[in-house]
Amino acid sequence: MGDQIEKVIEVKNVKKIYRMGSEKIFAVDDVSFEILKGEFCCLLGTSGSGKSTLLNLMAGIEKLTGGQIIIKSKKIHRMNENSLARFRQRYLGFVFQSYNLMGSMTALENVEFPLVFKRVKANKRKKMARDMLIKVGLGSRLSHKPKEMSGGQQQRVGIARAFVANPEIVFADEPTGNLDTKTAMEVMKLIKIIAKENNQTIVMVTHDKRLADFADRTIHILDGRIQDIELKRNRDKKEIINESITIDNEEEVKTENEPQGNIKIIENNVIDNKFEIEKTEGIEVISDKEMDEKNWGSKAIPDEQAENEVAASDTLEGMKDVDAII
Ligand SMILES: Nc1ncnc2c1ncn2[C@@H]1O[C@H](COP(=O)(O)OP(=O)(O)O)[C@@H](O)[C@H]1O
Ligand SMILES: [Mg+2]
Repeated sequence: MGDQIEKVIEVKNVKKIYRMGSEKIFAVDDVSFEILKGEFCCLLGTSGSGKSTLLNLMAGIEKLTGGQIIIKSKKIHRMNENSLARFRQRYLGFVFQSYNLMGSMTALENVEFPLVFKRVKANKRKKMARDMLIKVGLGSRLSHKPKEMSGGQQQRVGIARAFVANPEIVFADEPTGNLDTKTAMEVMKLIKIIAKENNQTIVMVTHDKRLADFADRTIHILDGRIQDIELKRNRDKKEIINESITIDNEEEVKTENEPQGNIKIIENNVIDNKFEIEKTEGIEVISDKEMDEKNWGSKAIPDEQAENEVAASDTLEGMKDVDAII
């Protein structure tokens, strides 16, 4: 039983301070927590609370000011750029709010992209990408380019790309931030189902409490610090939770390892691995215009910039040596 518990991500006293002239911004301020293998973890907080910074630190995209980030027992903050790039390609996947698809490539080529880095041969690559696109319901859109698809379809291509190489961990920054509520819920269910099928760990940033309903572990962030950690308990996880923390009275628990905030355990709505997502009714529908007007705070790179960063060459083969975060 004990060997079932794998702390796949450990965040220890992590700090990120930005200096703006004489001012210091404590974007992430002494944060510690753990994420277990197969968990769906949500970083929840308002705009400017430090969620994206924390996610980018965890994914090795930004450098720490202090503390440690340990993924699969490796101190990623100690790795050099090459090792980190290899580590990302091997174990990590990314889903971005603004999709970050290559505008000149088809859906199939976009999904093949991470497999190029893994040196998967062209035929196998195409089959894997095609199978993944079928899985996300885009079997009839293989040859479409991003601008020939809706936002929801583009995001599903983004999900297919993040999951095609079966990474152990997928990081997602507001992955449904550009979608209407109904599409957002569908995309969330898709992410959850694919991840549970393969026992993948998800770390997702959102400002939307309703999306946190999908998570096993919700870390509430405020002003760069942890306010609360909520765990949803299901029958499978009960023993794991019992081992890693002490439960007082089912309602609130504290652990020595968590210097900030409380941990609350709440009963899960996951029943026998069928995802009964509740609370999707009565949700106010936010129009696309309202969505656009909000500042979603994503650090995603626009298509054009991403394309420039990749290479002048537009062929997949020419991209093998590029350290792209996709
Ligand atoms: N590159 C940067 N330089 C200076 N300040 C930054 C930078 N990135 C983020 N910040 C600041 O750090 C804080 C947290 O930002 P961020 O992580 O983007 O928040 P969130 O994703 O929760 O909206 C904000 O006050 C933001 O202005
Ligand atoms: Mg953000």
